[in-house]
Amino acid sequence: MSIRTNYEKWYEGDEYYWGLEPGDFLLDLINLCPPAENTKVLDIGCGEGKDAVFMAEKGYDVTAFDLTENGIRKTIALAHKRGVKVNAYVDDINTFETDEKFDIIFSTGTVQYIFNENKEAFFKKLEKITKPNGIVFINVFVEKSFLELPPDWDKEEKMWKSGELFTYFSDWKFEKIDEVIFEDNSGGITHYHCMDTIICRAKPGKTI
Ligand SMILES: C[S@@+](CC[C@H](N)C(=O)[O-])C[C@H]1O[C@@H](n2cnc3c(N)ncnc32)[C@H](O)[C@@H]1O
Repeated sequence: MSIRTNYEKWYEGDEYYWGLEPGDFLLDLINLCPPAENTKVLDIGCGEGKDAVFMAEKGYDVTAFDLTENGIRKTIALAHKRGVKVNAYVDDINTFETDEKFDIIFSTGTVQYIFNENKEAFFKKLEKITKPNGIVFINVFVEKSFLELPPDWDKEEKMWKSGELFTYFSDWKFEKIDEVIFEDNSGGITHYHCMDTIICRAKPGKTI
């Protein structure tokens, strides 16, 4: 079993660590790319699967991976319980490979686990596996000199520079970008995060 992140332990129990409510951002993605026959979605760092399973329930063909075996076990169990299928497996955002192409790719709270030396290759890979007109959603924690490092920050996580995420998509159509500071009480200690978010669309007819 992987011991790369604390999440393996946090996901052990029957409770869903992140709850079962899907992320609000999924409604934006559904509006931008509604489900049709064979609309393919990739969730990178799916945790225990709340978002991946929600997208499968909406009619998408969903693939999802996470570094944790417990997260994948719970993703598959949740999909089974809700009567849908998610192609979920253990993989690493740093090294994953796929021959498939996707209409929607999303990754929430996970991109900070990419090692610096893998960033360039990761975004090239995204370009390659997004269908023409496809949508990518990514959010990432960014550093601000006036904010302290969160108390539950993992040694494997790397804060990004403010705005850095957007630079990797200069050739895409921006549907939405923003940067927000928000309060978080995870771990029982009130702290603040700054997060950059992008939703963008691949060029029409782009073939790589
Ligand atoms: C903040 S959680 C977000 C989980 C999920 N996206 C959600 O919103 O519920 C970060 C996730 O990244 C996963 N993770 C950490 N390092 C990873 C890696 N190298 N490759 C893939 N997933 C990783 C963790 O296991 C965890 O599930």
